Amino acid sequence: MTIEDYDEVYAMWQITSKRALSSSDSRENIKRYLERNKGMSMVAVCDGKIVGTVLAGHDGRTGFIHHTAVHPDYRRKHIGKALVQNAVQRISESGINKTQIYCYKDNSTGQSFWKSMGFNRTDNVLFEAKKE
Ligand SMILES: CC(C)(COP(=O)(O)OP(=O)(O)OC[C@H]1O[C@@H](n2cnc3c(N)ncnc32)[C@H](O)[C@@H]1OP(=O)(O)O)[C@@H](O)C(=O)NCCC(=O)NCCS
Repeated sequence: MTIEDYDEVYAMWQITSKRALSSSDSRENIKRYLERNKGMSMVAVCDGKIVGTVLAGHDGRTGFIHHTAVHPDYRRKHIGKALVQNAVQRISESGINKTQIYCYKDNSTGQSFWKSMGFNRTDNVLFEAKKE
């Protein structure tokens, strides 16, 4: 993914990921994120358009994956799986062997997906977001 993909990616996120979007996803912030985590985030392209995304990066000790999303017309074709496998691979190539994701508790599709990808759910962490 490059910042040139931003408009198309953001339009897809309006369909796939609206609830998870925030001011963190402004063009400026995504540009900074891509620069800090060079070559790690990806888009999937089918029929000449972006149909999948994954943002991947790390903070030096833990990998983080955000906005894993596939356009509804292209789901259940293992596009999400391929994106996440590649993201984890790139994080691992940076020497980071633990990767975290965030998934809404009521996102049953997301939870099935992450379980199938080998991610273990933890219920003993309280996460609260602070917005300025
Ligand atoms: C979650 C999402 C990215 C999955 O993308 P996808 O390309 O359709 O998923 P894949 O085809 O790679 O599925 C891999 C495995 O995940 C599981 N899975 C995926 N979608 C599922 C569903 N709707 N119900 C149950 N299991 C599902 C299956 O085990 C599947 O393997 P299988 O098809 O061989 O049975 C997609 O549904 C999506 O964009 N959802 C909206 C955004 C979202 O919630 N993202 C996750 C944020 S935490």
